[in-house]
Amino acid sequence: MCGIVGYIGKEEAAPILLEGLKKLEYRGYDSAGLAIYNNGKLDVIKSKGRLDTLYKLTDGGKKMEGTAGIGHTRWATHGEPSDKNSHPHVSQSGKIAVVHNGIIENYQKMKELLVNHGVKFSSDTDTEVVAQLLEYYYEGDLLEAVSKTLSRLEGSYALGIMSVDYPDRIIAARKENPLILAVGDNCNYLASDVAAVVKYTRDVIYLDDDEIAVITNDRINIYNTDMDELNKPVVHIDWNISDPEKGSYEHFMFKEIMEQPKVISDTISPRLKGNEVILNELDNVRSKIDKASQIYILGCGSAYHVGVIGKYLFEKYARIPSQAVLASEFRYSSPLVDENTLVIVISQSGETADTIAAMREAKRLGSTVIAIVNVVGSTIAKEADSVIYTWAGIEVAVATTKAYSAQLAVIHLLCLELAKNRKKMTEHEISEVVSELKLLPSKIQRIIDCREKLQYYASLYFNNDSVFFIGRNLDYAICLEGSLKLKEISYIHSEAYAAGELKHGTISLIEPGTLVVALATYEKLFDKLVSNITEVRARGADVLGFASEKMRESFEGNADSAFYIPNTHEMLTPSLAVIPLQLFSYYVALMRDCDIDKPRNLAKSVTVE
Ligand code: G6P
Repeated sequence: MCGIVGYIGKEEAAPILLEGLKKLEYRGYDSAGLAIYNNGKLDVIKSKGRLDTLYKLTDGGKKMEGTAGIGHTRWATHGEPSDKNSHPHVSQSGKIAVVHNGIIENYQKMKELLVNHGVKFSSDTDTEVVAQLLEYYYEGDLLEAVSKTLSRLEGSYALGIMSVDYPDRIIAARKENPLILAVGDNCNYLASDVAAVVKYTRDVIYLDDDEIAVITNDRINIYNTDMDELNKPVVHIDWNISDPEKGSYEHFMFKEIMEQPKVISDTISPRLKGNEVILNELDNVRSKIDKASQIYILGCGSAYHVGVIGKYLFEKYARIPSQAVLASEFRYSSPLVDENTLVIVISQSGETADTIAAMREAKRLGSTVIAIVNVVGSTIAKEADSVIYTWAGIEVAVATTKAYSAQLAVIHLLCLELAKNRKKMTEHEISEVVSELKLLPSKIQRIIDCREKLQYYASLYFNNDSVFFIGRNLDYAICLEGSLKLKEISYIHSEAYAAGELKHGTISLIEPGTLVVALATYEKLFDKLVSNITEVRARGADVLGFASEKMRESFEGNADSAFYIPNTHEMLTPSLAVIPLQLFSYYVALMRDCDIDKPRNLAKSVTVE
């Protein structure tokens, strides 16, 4: 997946495009490029590496003249990150330039067709076939060529297209990838995300699938595939989308970890009245929720890990059969969901391709979909039957922390709501949990305040090349996230294991010096977990243990290093237990001198399947 941006107006385009790309780097950052119309030709500068490289190459855009252009920041799918595979891609004659987010699935077939017609390709990408096909079909009418080209493409795309024959316009098209158009003063924009243009305008048009837009500096015309003109509303963005700044923090990830007390409070406070949970967002789906006989929770990466916690909690407290399924697996697994299934879709970005596809499949099968989403107006937010927003604010670091915690807070609220409706918890029991819920922000702060201890533990273990996270039940679910955090930002191989499962094979990997991170916050299974710790220590592992304060006495001496988490209601322990794991990973990555906010090979929003 990638970020695309376009500008046409009276100002110099390149600096505006670079500014926009900066806001889209979360979508990919292995290469970047610009194409600007300049005196009868398209100037293209593109390069492997971060946006900074392009910035330097173009002297902040000053080296590129022209008031219309398109830009791209890439996460490689087809073809390694390199100068030649960077976008924009141009047709053989250099007259048509294209930026693309998505995957052209039939690109090989299209490439063969074009090669047989003598077209010479200069990259390994799927995108280049779009530029070449456009030229192949172009007979003087660009829009017609676009229409013909799109009709040949299989896969997904958000496209920005320019041609030297039409210097007064940019063409945009979308299928299954986000794309917005924005209306400026004597200028117009296109972008993968509102964030890229909000500095200039808050009036946007959301392009839908199979729509084509012709953008000039004073008009935006939108057509369907039959080329009928459509009348689409201009939406004024009134939600807060202020640019996050790192301030005095070295990394966004650290800043976002520190923001968690506030984020939890912002997410839960508007949904509590006294000690009651009020989820008005569910009003339109309440009857469906009441008759649901099972719950499926879908998501990818950390969002899926929140789902695993949801599964344990919904079954335990609301007594509803529940399962968490990876969105990428759900779609192709013949899931047994129907109109009596409640599907909860979790996504920070609301744009993850696998999650969108899974949500659409669940809806097609008749289930009711509740989405837990951070980005307002995103595809998942728009298409779900009901949305509960996490008020985490913009999350910049690729490794999620505050959005994860906000999602977890919403899961707690949902769990209480379901348990109340099904009369599986008394008012008193609910009120007890809510009282503790309100204390989460201050307890998280207490953990953050003890971060030096975690920094010290990181200094002991940052050179390990293999780490196992073990825990049972909710602790296991937290291990999944702790392990992912460590591997994504520090590049240390790590695995999360249900502690009881370790002995069925994986324990053969434990040898003297292997680090095992053990979570022992779940009181009922504490003794069993301690037995598992003893097993790995007997084989020479170093154990870094995390236990609740109330178990301090029994835990002392069971691990080589230990960190204690404030006591809370059992349902809420994951919200506390995850914090020291985030901090531990952060410090390990810091000591290994890793690129913490933008780890290699990753992107924050994964808009390809
Ligand atoms: C990417 C990110 C993960 C994230 C996952 C799901 O892989 O690197 O941190 O958990 O996508 O993203 P979503 O936006 O759907 O929560």
